[in-house]
Amino acid sequence: MSKGKKNLLSGVKPTGRPHIGNYFGAMKQFADLQNQYQTSVMIANYHDLGSGQTPGELRQNTLDAAIDHLAIGLDPQRITLFRQADVPEHAELAWIFNSLVTVPYLQRAHAYKDAVAKGKEATMTLFAYPVLMATDILMYNTHVVPVGKDQQQHVEIARDIAEKFNHCYGKLFNLPEALILEEVAVVPGIDGQKMSKSYGNTIPLFASDEEIKKAVMGIVTDSDSGRPENVYAIHKLLKPADELDPLYEEKAGKYKDLKEALLEDMIAFIAVLRERREEIASDIDQVEQILKNGADQARERAMLKMKQVRLAVGLD
Ligand code: ADP
Ligand code: TRP
Repeated sequence: MSKGKKNLLSGVKPTGRPHIGNYFGAMKQFADLQNQYQTSVMIANYHDLGSGQTPGELRQNTLDAAIDHLAIGLDPQRITLFRQADVPEHAELAWIFNSLVTVPYLQRAHAYKDAVAKGKEATMTLFAYPVLMATDILMYNTHVVPVGKDQQQHVEIARDIAEKFNHCYGKLFNLPEALILEEVAVVPGIDGQKMSKSYGNTIPLFASDEEIKKAVMGIVTDSDSGRPENVYAIHKLLKPADELDPLYEEKAGKYKDLKEALLEDMIAFIAVLRERREEIASDIDQVEQILKNGADQARERAMLKMKQVRLAVGLD
């Protein structure tokens, strides 16, 4: 670990192809911050058990998520990229944290309530999700957690668990902070709702030109003014307002022209990332080696932390 740098960690669930909401809301920040912080990116495969993926899909999506993150410019020489389940200490720490967390407290978690309201089965893994996420954050003395707004509460739960543990057993965990970029807090989808895999309203981050065209030309434009707000909001991710505003004034009301302008910019933006991804995916052995190095580094730290934890709680 480099001296003087604060630790940053984020986790990404291996749920399939990422979209530009994931990129601007989360992934891009990892790449932007990797020089400033001692950065770890963890592919959260324990977190996705029970989501309905087959074992083969989970395995493949986990590897794909690693490739996605290398393609956006995470530098494996500088950061630690690893698979959560390569560090089984997470499961042990989660069990210990469970003894500090009450059912009514976890019942207040928005993500859990939303998932159950949408008809998801309330499994123990869904319910205890924030506890496992707390282990991800706290295991590595994390100071900063870059996440979208929807994950802010989970970071607060991790802080609460750290405080409670420290109070009961002595100060082993530092208190993490969520890092949320307000201007990209919620990227809208092509229908104007939050962009999300589960709403089918995404622009995939590594989309083909055809897919980009279909998504961009399909953006819902229900604006009463001359400016189609849904088009503008997505365009603003790619270009600053002072470049966009003259175009949107000149083309006021011409929705098709404005979508075509966005299409051109989106294709240029995605093509670079897509090509880099294809190159990385052509050498899977190298990706596996990067993940193995990451797991070795993470596990060394996790084993050290668990030694202290087991001693503190009386298991050793
Ligand atoms: P999805 O809703 O597509 O399933 P996830 O819940 O897997 O996305 O989110 C992965 C990461 O991307 C999280 O950090 C989340 O906050 C961020 N994220 C997802 N959708 C958006 C969005 N529309 N705008 C900003 N950030 C997002
Ligand atoms: N819960 C996060 C999400 O849904 C993923 C995640 C798992 C995570 N563990 C984490 C994020 C640790 C930050 C830190 O996107």
